[in-house]
Amino acid sequence: MKAVAVSVFHNLGRAVRAALLLLPLILAVLWCGRLTAGDIVRPGELWPDESGRHINAHGGGILAYGGRYYWYGEDKDARTNAALVGVSCYSSRNLKKWRRLSVALSVDTTDAASPIARGCIIERPKVIYCAGTGKFVMWFHLELRDKGYRAAMAGVAVADRPEGPFRFLRASRVNAGRLPSGYTEEDVQMLDSLRYTMKLKWWTPEWRRGVEAGVYMRRDMDGGQMARDMQLFVDSDGKAYHIYASEENLTIQIAELTDDYTAHTGRYVRVAPGGQNEATVLFRHGGYYWMITSGCTGWAPNAARLYRARSIMGPWEGNLYNPCCEGNDRRPVEKTFLGQGTYALPYGKGIIFMADEWRPNHPSDGRYLWLPISFDRDGGPQIKWRDSWSLKKLKAGKYNDYPE
Ligand code: GAL
Repeated sequence: MKAVAVSVFHNLGRAVRAALLLLPLILAVLWCGRLTAGDIVRPGELWPDESGRHINAHGGGILAYGGRYYWYGEDKDARTNAALVGVSCYSSRNLKKWRRLSVALSVDTTDAASPIARGCIIERPKVIYCAGTGKFVMWFHLELRDKGYRAAMAGVAVADRPEGPFRFLRASRVNAGRLPSGYTEEDVQMLDSLRYTMKLKWWTPEWRRGVEAGVYMRRDMDGGQMARDMQLFVDSDGKAYHIYASEENLTIQIAELTDDYTAHTGRYVRVAPGGQNEATVLFRHGGYYWMITSGCTGWAPNAARLYRARSIMGPWEGNLYNPCCEGNDRRPVEKTFLGQGTYALPYGKGIIFMADEWRPNHPSDGRYLWLPISFDRDGGPQIKWRDSWSLKKLKAGKYNDYPE
């Protein structure tokens, strides 16, 4: 049988034989071509960079600068979520074809005592450009090596060029010694009298009363507020804000940054106290600031939530509804299509919702779910699952049923 097969193979023409041998290679090239072709985004599929490797920029965000886009994210390992490399940076002119430029912020491989020592956890890095100083400023969620998620710190680094190298400045909790806007010394006394509620069983009405009033904020006042899943937002007046899951991931805080974007001014607000939100994604549309969040279930996906405000410092209304409104069995709306939000990128007349589909057992294989945000008749955001969609159409506003 084997001999017959070999002789048939030898009797084929040379060209046919060569084609057969090259077939796997040809198919691989075509497959890669399909993934990088034109302006089509395929959420959840592998996304090769120009060198053919799946983009490694998880929990990321995008900076538009000088006619290019820069995508920063967690450079994840195949086996661990610990940071062994740092924050990666890719660049593109069209949001489709990406070139890996550099490791924008490297973990410290020489000093085991550095807050960003190799093996720490660096998550959800975001970069903004400060026109006042001409510097690029990166903030990220930092957890110290071998300390689980207990540190809950914010790290900051600066660079002269978008691709870095970023120079690590410091990491700390946020706004030590400061009360949120609107809180008085009487409130502090009231919170001290509610301190005992922190010992109660979670989710009992009395415990909740303490959380909403701010007992965890009060507990952390001296050392600074916890800062985990984070986002940055630059408003139209150039002021920048740091948005992070705080108070044991029970309450979002929004803190104003200094004019050079590298520190906090001390002004901050609490949003949805006790709402247990994280993975915030912010954008503006129709006179509102919108914030999409997730619940807190680790790497496992849950339903997205939506909040809105007339001013970034609040008051914020919500939870309004789940903005994911059309999915399918494989990509259910009640699980954010199996993703968790990371950024919103305005692109022409459209806005892209960027989410991560985490793969905790193989972190670097995590996928990117980019989807158009459309708006309903009342101006409310909606996200529909699409197996593929066109960046050109999004740019022209074609995915938005009710433009402003
Ligand atoms: C998620 C969070 C991720 C990461 C993960 C760790 O809830 O959004 O950024 O921190 O938990 O379990």
